[in-house]
Parts: sequence; structure tokens; C-alpha cells
Amino acid sequence: MSAFPVALRHGPLLPVCDGVHAVRGQFRMGPGVLIPRTMTIVAVADGLVVLNAIRLDAAGEAALAALGRIAHLVKLADAHGIDEPYYVDRFSPQVWTLPGARLGGVPAGRTLGPDGPVAGGVVIDLTCPKGGREASYWIPHGGGTLVTCDAVQHHVDGELASWLARRISPLLGFSGGVIVPRMWRKVHGVDGAAVREVLAGLTARPFANLVTGHGPPVIGGADAAVRDAIARVS
Ligand SMILES: [Fe+2]
Repeated sequence: MSAFPVALRHGPLLPVCDGVHAVRGQFRMGPGVLIPRTMTIVAVADGLVVLNAIRLDAAGEAALAALGRIAHLVKLADAHGIDEPYYVDRFSPQVWTLPGARLGGVPAGRTLGPDGPVAGGVVIDLTCPKGGREASYWIPHGGGTLVTCDAVQHHVDGELASWLARRISPLLGFSGGVIVPRMWRKVHGVDGAAVREVLAGLTARPFANLVTGHGPPVIGGADAAVRDAIARVS
């Protein structure tokens, strides 16, 4: 067990809507640079689905256990995988990964999309010119909830960011509410009109709520915020 990265500082389970919670935590980018990241937990018939996994401390794991058994681990993206091997080892969930995903030490498990662990959910596979595998997941909970990793992020505060990260992040474009970050567009080779094409699936159906891999959940009116974010950069 000691081979896995330790739990970093994180917040409590945040209710998003009926059956959906988020936890805000940290990721260590480098010395002194701790950026915030966010995990999503969805209740389904056979237990919990964890997306954008973050290792929690003992009290956090107890709170999670009170919600149910971790039955599924969804690897939405090549990124955010640092704690996924810990979840596989600790909870033995059914793993779901995209075809061609960089697995980072987890088994491929079942193929994510068009199938997935959430009944009525829609896996939105984002095919980017420069590669790098990532999907978003629309689920019917709470009038529709969209779960993203990095393609869409929500930057409104510096909660759980270190002093240095709070100063660097805005300079790199990580600011301005719900955004399609400049860094993500650059890394994935997506810009201008291509942003609208690659992310078209995100706006294909309504959703009230949004939980991204970074920042607090957006509760209510989230689909309009995502449409605006896409429109601003395409
Ligand atoms: Fe990220």
C-alpha cells in the first residue's frame, strides 16, 4: 500500500444533486505548486461510481463508505490518473476506460462508451487532433449533470491551491469561471472552430449541473455556461 501516493489535503463531500457528490482536493504539480482538482461520485444501483479519482484521508474514506460501496471507477481521461491504482487496489471496482487510453497502472477493464456504469448516461468521447484520450459523461441525475475532466474546467476561487499555484494559474489562463482552458486547447491541438466541433457532444443535450476535474461544482444553469465557454474560444 505504501507504494501509492499519500492522500493530500481535501474538502468534504459536497452534494451536487440527488445521487451525485463532489470532493475538492489537490494535485502536486511541482515543488510548492499544489493545484486544486475535483472528484465526482455518483450513486447507481450496485454502489458508487468514482470519476476523476482523488485519494482521501481516513475520515474522507469513511464518509465515502457511508454513501455506499465503490463499485465502479471511470477513467475519463489520460490525465488525473495518479490515484486510480490506489482505488483499484483498495476497493476492487469495475474499471471503465476509453479505447486507446493511457492506462497508468490500472487494468483496461470494460470499454467506456457507448456503454458505461450509469443507467441512462451518455459517454461523450472527445477526439482531438493531437491525441490524448478524454471523454465527458452526461448523466441524467438532477435534471442532467455533466462530468468533465480537463476539457471544461471551473475556475472561480483559489480553494486548496497553494500560494504559488494561486499566482501562476491565472497567468496560464486558468481563470474566468467555466472555461475551455487555453492549455487544454494547446495540448490537444484544438482551437478556433475546431473547439466547437470537438466539444459538440457536450451541448447536444440539456444539463443543470456541471462537475469538472478542477473547481467547484456548478449547480443550475450549467449547460448555458458551457455553451458560453465554447463560444468564447471558437
Ligand atoms: Fe486536470
